Amino acid sequence: MRVYCAKDYYHASRTAANIISAQVIMKQDCVLGLATGSTPIGTYEQLIKWYEKGDLDFSKVRSINLDEYRGLPADNDQSYRYFMNTHLFDSINIDKKNTFVPDGMEPDAEKACRDYDEIIRSHGGIDLQILGLGHNGHIGFNEPASAFAKGTQCVKLTESTISANARFFESMDDVPKEAYTMGIGSIMQAKKIMVIVSGEGKAEIVRRAFLGPITPEVPASVLQLHSDVILVGDEAALAEYNKDV
Ligand code: GLP
Repeated sequence: MRVYCAKDYYHASRTAANIISAQVIMKQDCVLGLATGSTPIGTYEQLIKWYEKGDLDFSKVRSINLDEYRGLPADNDQSYRYFMNTHLFDSINIDKKNTFVPDGMEPDAEKACRDYDEIIRSHGGIDLQILGLGHNGHIGFNEPASAFAKGTQCVKLTESTISANARFFESMDDVPKEAYTMGIGSIMQAKKIMVIVSGEGKAEIVRRAFLGPITPEVPASVLQLHSDVILVGDEAALAEYNKDV
């Protein structure tokens, strides 16, 4: 695993954006696996700046997002489709027809998961998967469990995730209790994976995920088995990891 430790969030975001840029330049029609959450926002802002300067062209890029809340329509300002449109897609020249987010409004969970796996398969898999890290080690919405899920699944969110994400909603009760998420198997099939972490709140889970035992109780720990993982973080998030390596 390659680790890039930046002094702060701004510089970590620039490093992450540089790595995405390299991917987009090297393969213009690459498939990016994209993530939501507060962490990648700075990365997306940087990509937009370089696009505006004329340094990046997303016209042929395809993107497949990790997850979506079940029951939220695309125009709900808390849906992940809305997040991607407002934080990235609306500001770059990506063709929205080539951007995919699980359909949160598909009531048939099995169909929603099957359809999403087919989307991933038909694009030939993911070239570069971006990941944030949940406080309990979740990636996408793959919560701690007794086994690693292979394909897309419909999950019940844990109390810890619901309360962590409540800051984006008016109240705890408004946070959806279920979500669709790309499976660990699909994430692990990505050719390259970049995990972005920021802030001291992530320091302990970063240590457990990348130095602790590989267990579905800490879903991100499975990344230790992938041959091409890049960890980008600021000093605060990497503090515990750096102590132990
Ligand atoms: C959500 C998303 C994850 C994300 C996580 C961490 O639960 N489903 O994909 O990694 O939050 O979010 P943040 O970056 O805001 O800490």
